[in-house]
Amino acid sequence: MTNQKLRAAVIGCGLGASHGYAYTHAPEFELVAICDLKSEVIDAFFERSQLERGSVREYTDYQAMLAEEELDVVSVATPDDYHANPVCDASNAGIKGIFCEKPLTTNLKDADRMIEAIEHNGTKMSVDHTRSWVPIYQTVRQAVREGEIGNLTRIVAHMGGRRSMLFRNGTHLVDAVCYFAEADPVWVIAAHERGFEDYGIEYKGEGGKDPGLDPASTLIIEFDNGIRGIVNSAKMTPAIFEFDLLGPNGRYWVTDKHCTVWKTDRPEGSPQKAMLPQASGYADYFGDTLIPAVQELAMMIWNGAPSSSPARRARNTLEIMLGALISQSQDSTKIHLPLPRK
Ligand SMILES: NC(=O)c1ccc[n+]([C@@H]2O[C@H](COP(=O)([O-])OP(=O)(O)OC[C@H]3O[C@@H](n4cnc5c(N)ncnc54)[C@H](O)[C@@H]3O)[C@@H](O)[C@H]2O)c1
Repeated sequence: MTNQKLRAAVIGCGLGASHGYAYTHAPEFELVAICDLKSEVIDAFFERSQLERGSVREYTDYQAMLAEEELDVVSVATPDDYHANPVCDASNAGIKGIFCEKPLTTNLKDADRMIEAIEHNGTKMSVDHTRSWVPIYQTVRQAVREGEIGNLTRIVAHMGGRRSMLFRNGTHLVDAVCYFAEADPVWVIAAHERGFEDYGIEYKGEGGKDPGLDPASTLIIEFDNGIRGIVNSAKMTPAIFEFDLLGPNGRYWVTDKHCTVWKTDRPEGSPQKAMLPQASGYADYFGDTLIPAVQELAMMIWNGAPSSSPARRARNTLEIMLGALISQSQDSTKIHLPLPRK
């Protein structure tokens, strides 16, 4: 490799341990420092990331870390509603690349602050909507792009289980719909699950841990290319996560591990099962799934490669989720997007 290794650090060491693991397993990087407010989380980081204690410097103040280490890249894996400050501060400190956890953030003011900072400073950033780098999803998107089932018409997405939450996990579902639709959303309609009828128009999830503070919801999303997404999530269902992509010439049904394809030669004809090119699904260990994401970030820095999960798409995802809260609060009316800027 001709480029020098990129010096990486992690802010927020819970899920951030998987980021640490990814940097230490990607030859493009050297993990040099980590930061968390809580010493017990730092202790657990080493076990979770399979790293030896003493191999990286430890901080409890990320500003001090940004000032003292000559970093090229940081991961931001702080709670769902606390991504904006570390991202903006890292970008303003001259960090070249940021891998920010999902959701981008939980309100549009913070989202715009983050996007303004990275675009102003020229910082490369990906948001960890993880499926963007999983081969099975990439292969299906490529096949759709090549017209294998004609122009995509509908994307039906399901998420189930106790931890079905619009922001915490639902962001993966909504973002994957945006990933396949490859267009901007123009409206959203939503109906939350029972018990969350009066949730209100602002995120109340306190950082993302408690399913009681983040509703599952059923959404209809229309995109400007005519594709319609139907997103269904509910806590009292089996723990599934899957997508049904439908076009005039067939259908892809894709989950984290499998894909089934049905095709027809005749538009709107009866589809028959067809073969999908071999592609792997989610890795068994989450850290392994993140290795291609950080490797892509290196290529974004070195060669100007595009992100598979850019901040602007993550902003669309957030806007859909916030639009869903507004729709629910107005008896499931259609909410036109983009939302007005305050
Ligand atoms: N991509 C995925 O599939 C996936 C999976 C799980 C979690 N996540 C995301 O990762 C993020 C973190 O999730 P988690 O479960 O680890 O949350 P968490 O609350 O367990 O951990 C966040 C950590 O950030 C630390 N922190 C908060 N403020 C800080 C600051 N100013 N400086 C340094 N550290 C600070 C906290 O002390 C805490 O240890 C969330 O955004 C979550 O949605 C993503």
